[in-house]
Amino acid sequence: MRILFIGDIVGKSGRDIVSSLLNSLKEEYEIDLTIANGENSAHGKGITYKIYNQLRSYGVDYITMGNHTYSKSEINKYIEQMDNLVVPYNHLKRISGNYYKVIEFNNVKFCLCNILGNALMNETGDDMYEAFENLIDETKDLNCDFYFVDLHAETTAEKRIFMEYFKDYAKVVLGTHTHVQTADEDIINDCAFITDVGMCGAYESIIGRDVAESIMNNVDKEPTIYKIAEGPAIFCGVVIEIDEVKKLPVSIKRIQIRP
Ligand code: FE2
Repeated sequence: MRILFIGDIVGKSGRDIVSSLLNSLKEEYEIDLTIANGENSAHGKGITYKIYNQLRSYGVDYITMGNHTYSKSEINKYIEQMDNLVVPYNHLKRISGNYYKVIEFNNVKFCLCNILGNALMNETGDDMYEAFENLIDETKDLNCDFYFVDLHAETTAEKRIFMEYFKDYAKVVLGTHTHVQTADEDIINDCAFITDVGMCGAYESIIGRDVAESIMNNVDKEPTIYKIAEGPAIFCGVVIEIDEVKKLPVSIKRIQIRP
């Protein structure tokens, strides 16, 4: 079984590159299941019901989120209809929706979840370690083979610590949020791991945001509206192969396509 995980889709450029590449990537890598992080898909912050449906129509099966999950307030109105959306288990604003999703495919049963990191995340989530322990406890009777974690966090060390600490449970730990793909993908303790999958978004940008506006905001300290960069996009993702007999990942391959 092969799973494609797509890194943070940022704004229209990100959505467009997913739309144009997804079918051919699925064919090339013989993908059975596609999961994407969509927390920046609606103009850089959050997701709308329309964009959720758009990503699903492109062929994304499940969508994970992050610190910006609730940035577009309409999410609370539609969340019960967004059945394939997984919101962070430890987001302080969580009130409804899927806090995890059990996925069964070809005899493999795993629990897809989204956990927010602790460091430099503006205190959007509860403690990540306690949260994941609670999730394990809450789902212990579901008999999942492993946990598939989108670990939405800022710092590199934190993601590796999480993977090492929960190595008996989490067999796929994929970092998201920084939008910059790292080159450390590996199978460690039978866990498919990468510090950050990277983004799908405008290549000439500051992690998806307009360059001039980012300078205005950061250097000149001027108030800005959060303008998303436009233009050709980079596509970042990973392909994970799960052995259906061992019920464990056996490989992780990085994909990065620049314009
Ligand atoms: Fe994020």
